[in-house]
Amino acid sequence: MNEPTDNPYVREPDTQFRAADELTEAKAKEQVSQLREAIEYHDYRYYVENDPIVSDSAYDRLFDRLDALERLFGLRDEHSPTQRIGSETLDELETHEHVTEMLSLDSSEEETEVYDFSERVRDEVGGVTYSLEPKFDGFSVELVYADGTFNRAVTRGDGENGEDVSTNVKTIRTVPLQIPDAPEFLAVRAEVYMPHSGFQDLNQERVQEGKDPFANPRNAAAGTVRQLDPRIVADRPLDIYFYDVMDSSQAIETQAGVFELLSDLGFRINEYNRMADDIETFVSYREELLDERDELEYEIDGVVAKVNAFEKRDALGETARHPRWAFAYKFPPNTGETTVKRIAVQVGRTGRLTPVALLDPVDVSGVTISRATLHNEAQAQDLGVAEGATVEIERAGDVIPQVVSVTEAPDGTFEMPEQCPVCGSDVTKEGPNHFCTGGMSCDAQLTQSLEHFASREAMNIEGLGEEIADILVEAGVIESIADLYQLEKDELTTLEPFAEQSAENLLREIEASKNPDLASFLYALGIRHVGTERARLLAEYFSLDELETADATELKTVGDIGPEVATSIRSFFANDSNREMIHQLQQMGVTPERRERGDEFDGMALVFTGSIEDYSRTELTELMESHGASVTSSVSGETDYLVVGDDPGSTKLEQADESGVETIAAGDFKERFLSEIGALS
Ligand code: IVH
Repeated sequence: MNEPTDNPYVREPDTQFRAADELTEAKAKEQVSQLREAIEYHDYRYYVENDPIVSDSAYDRLFDRLDALERLFGLRDEHSPTQRIGSETLDELETHEHVTEMLSLDSSEEETEVYDFSERVRDEVGGVTYSLEPKFDGFSVELVYADGTFNRAVTRGDGENGEDVSTNVKTIRTVPLQIPDAPEFLAVRAEVYMPHSGFQDLNQERVQEGKDPFANPRNAAAGTVRQLDPRIVADRPLDIYFYDVMDSSQAIETQAGVFELLSDLGFRINEYNRMADDIETFVSYREELLDERDELEYEIDGVVAKVNAFEKRDALGETARHPRWAFAYKFPPNTGETTVKRIAVQVGRTGRLTPVALLDPVDVSGVTISRATLHNEAQAQDLGVAEGATVEIERAGDVIPQVVSVTEAPDGTFEMPEQCPVCGSDVTKEGPNHFCTGGMSCDAQLTQSLEHFASREAMNIEGLGEEIADILVEAGVIESIADLYQLEKDELTTLEPFAEQSAENLLREIEASKNPDLASFLYALGIRHVGTERARLLAEYFSLDELETADATELKTVGDIGPEVATSIRSFFANDSNREMIHQLQQMGVTPERRERGDEFDGMALVFTGSIEDYSRTELTELMESHGASVTSSVSGETDYLVVGDDPGSTKLEQADESGVETIAAGDFKERFLSEIGALS
């Protein structure tokens, strides 16, 4: 998408605004239209290109100004960026006819069938170039634009008619509402999906609210797109990849032309799309994406080869169900069947009990699965999972595998124990969930709280991970978090695996953690719903003393904090033992301090590939972003460095090579960047 010219709000978003009521109506209209264009462009830079050109606060100012002008001058318009989230709950979804019938793809998991396909193509139209694409396992929609304005989004339905899901699809920020320089008429096809991280969070939330979790990201995306209340949709993370132009007043002759047009118009297309002159490349493309599958944020269930030239497509034609010019080479299913050996009950950091099905190990598309979450008692009972059951499980990326259904149920049902399996305290039920009432006297809760407290984004006490937390709690040398600061060398050296040196190292680390950044300290406390980002915001607005007494109204002025999060913060500080813990920590010399966010890496764009020892991808991303860098998932001309860890993806390496992006080995990255911000482990 080209950058709009002559629009003051694109490159100079901080342009001073005149008081709104001093504007003439004509001037207001002009400003509204410039603001809409600028905001759409900033959305595109942020959401599609992962390369914003304005700060969040500058963006917010533009948005608020637009909102104010539209309200003041009665200029609301359903295609304004302020109107992405609809307010009316629908009674039902209306049916709408497709611009062209939505066929399906011929597909197989067998390599021989792929060669049969290419031979048919060669026999009928000679040698061809193929467009190679991921086959997204999401929810397909057709979008129509008239004169560059979003008109509707329709689900696949029976192929000829689908349901009008415009209001919901409009909430997806990568869906353009107005397209500058668009052809008069445009119908495009796309796949809506829910990213894995969002899927996991959504399921956790649903279970906490007593609702059934979704079995997989596809169902979650489908359920969300077909929601009748658009405000629910707006809270759920959906994204979209565009892959076809069904009809356009602009002539297109190839699939490459389709992608060029889509991308010129600002539609988000997938980074793995590629052209190939032979079918062998398609076979190796499948291998490559199969390897990358678990690293992707979206589900793919195979890859697709499409004849590039439309002229040749026309010659090949189609059967009643699918085109003869395309073929999907499917991946093995990510489901498997096995038996439940036992149901274990785990106790989390907050005391919540989670039943976990321990399975006869089963290979699911190359990964051995031996446990699956059952979320809570009701979920286990609804599914009919009990010891001895034969179950179907499904895994998505590195999300914890889910039990999808029970194929053979034994007698009996699963029931949550009445006493905590770890500490024996009574178990209470809150809504659909069970909690251990032991608090920090429960070793499971204490161990996990300690591990969280010491983690890198929290107090950053190196060497205090799960194993050591376990040892310290089990040996009884730690009975509360504050005990950490009273540990003595003699105590440690009596414990396996400590020796003189390692005990000294840990004590030094503990001592060095005494002056944390307030944001890290707040995160370390483990307040429900307060992750690193909210902790950072809270620390910006409040001192620790202020936060302890802040009421819900004050809390809600901060970032995205709503009633639920405010209540959680309030009840954390209202709880005597939490206040006692903070008090004890302070007495031990722990003094949190409010510090500015780092800007060492401002403007730097990074991409990671492969794994980097000692750090998770999320950890690295948060670390680098908290010091000003932007971390994206794909390499582009804007990328400054591609950081290469173990088992890197070949696609990212190739892209870096093509775009001349500097690659940097994991070791050098640690030395150059992590050491600069004191985050070397
Ligand atoms: S092209 C006539 N390309 O697969 C062929 N479809 O089985 C039109 N899908 O309903 C489809 N990724 O939801 C095409 N790269 C891709 C795709 C894709 C996923 C889905 C789509 C369609 C189904 C067909």
